Amino acid sequence: MNMKNFKQLIPALMISGAAFLYACGGSGSTAASSADSTANSSAASTSADVDPATKSDSKGVGKFTSVQLGPIDAAMAEKGKAVFTAKCSACHKTTDQRVVGPGLKGVTLRRTPEWIMNQITNPAEMEQKDPVGKALLAKYLTQMTFQNVSDDETRQILEYFRQNDKQ
Ligand code: HEC
Repeated sequence: MNMKNFKQLIPALMISGAAFLYACGGSGSTAASSADSTANSSAASTSADVDPATKSDSKGVGKFTSVQLGPIDAAMAEKGKAVFTAKCSACHKTTDQRVVGPGLKGVTLRRTPEWIMNQITNPAEMEQKDPVGKALLAKYLTQMTFQNVSDDETRQILEYFRQNDKQ
């Protein structure tokens, strides 16, 4: 390469150098802002000042915003019991006894139907955003995981809880 060609190369190198720096600056600030938002959400989730044993009117966070209840449907509750036994009983009893998670006796008296159905279908978001969900996680220190239950099964489990709380 002769000197003339080299001089022509310099501006090209400077432009690509600037582009390189710009790209680094860009990705650097993205990383910083995502770190910030992680810090914020974890700060929010530790500020649990709700006692999870007390009654709450929260509807929770998730797709269930309005659940209409009729008289208890025994056949539906029976189906709910079967789903509960298969998918929930490793961590919960329907008495007031704690296992991994809280005993679920009285859960329909302390929570709204919407909250219960959102907890079953959307536990991760509930733990992060709902005041009661945050308090439960702070108390039990274990995350409830989604058990792959359909919306119909979720409603059947709610019916089983209602029947359990009537006795
Ligand atoms: C891996 C263990 C585990 C499984 C499986 C599990 N849960 Fe949970 N559950 C928990 C824990 C721990 C909590 C409390 C902390 C939290 O909410 O994350 C909880 C909380 C709850 C609550 C709130 C109770 C209250 O006092 O407000 C309900 C309702 C509930 N679970 C229902 C269910 C149902 C129904 C199933 C089955 C579809 C189920 N859980 C499966 C561990 C589990």
